[in-house]
Amino acid sequence: MSDVGRVWIVGGGPGAGDLITVRAARALAGADVVVTDRLGPSALLSDLGPHVEIVDVGKAPGHHRASQEEINDLLVERARRGLSVVRLKGGDPFIFGRGGEEVRACRAAGVPVEVVPGVSSALAVPALADVPLTHRGLVSGALIVHGHDRLPSSACAVAASGDCTIVILMGVMFLARHAADLVESGADPATPVAVVERGSTSRQRIVRSDLANIAQVAGDANVRSPAVIVIGAVAAGEFLGPLDAVVHTSIA
Ligand SMILES: C[S@@+](CC[C@H](N)C(=O)[O-])C[C@H]1O[C@@H](n2cnc3c(N)ncnc32)[C@H](O)[C@@H]1O
Repeated sequence: MSDVGRVWIVGGGPGAGDLITVRAARALAGADVVVTDRLGPSALLSDLGPHVEIVDVGKAPGHHRASQEEINDLLVERARRGLSVVRLKGGDPFIFGRGGEEVRACRAAGVPVEVVPGVSSALAVPALADVPLTHRGLVSGALIVHGHDRLPSSACAVAASGDCTIVILMGVMFLARHAADLVESGADPATPVAVVERGSTSRQRIVRSDLANIAQVAGDANVRSPAVIVIGAVAAGEFLGPLDAVVHTSIA
């Protein structure tokens, strides 16, 4: 049997090819196998050599989406063949990325594994839309939660206090319910909300309103996943001053 290879659990950033880290790009360049997702810098995959096996485990409509267990098994199996395996993920692997489960599976199987942190959409996508998550003298922190279910009670408490920004990932489908829950928990209905769709890509869009109206406004604009929802004073339009025409630039 050949020597065991290695698995890199790599954060690829929010999507733009120039928002991947140098370390992540190096890991990709050295990969024999890349196990990829729907999110992340997929355009970079076309730069890989023809010998690199690319396995898409994302949820392309109409195709089987691999279970987490199948992904874990794949990583371990390829590494046991002596290969360098990159598990490429959108954003950061440890922010709602199930990277922890993959690290555990590799360690349990005795496969060497390394984590390469990535630029999380939770931080980068608001920044690209001119929304600072904290602002001295105004908000003292930010809470990142997932919104594919009811919001945690911590989010409701934070929204009521108004001194912390709330960042919701995976929350578009239940936006109306989240906004209603936050208002019911004591948040001011006039609290600004920004929804940033497909951040860092050429199709980035920002939709703004307040808690009372954001569901209607985002629905009318047909906002779809992936999007980051930011709730708090920092999400107000032109919070940092008048915008240039373009928020989206790319460093070649
Ligand atoms: C399963 S989570 C993965 C998050 C990822 N690990 C990270 O750190 O960015 C997927 C969610 O991240 C957000 N997301 C990821 N990439 C995005 C992008 N380019 N624009 C807007 N939202 C994005 C969306 O809320 C999406 O539903």
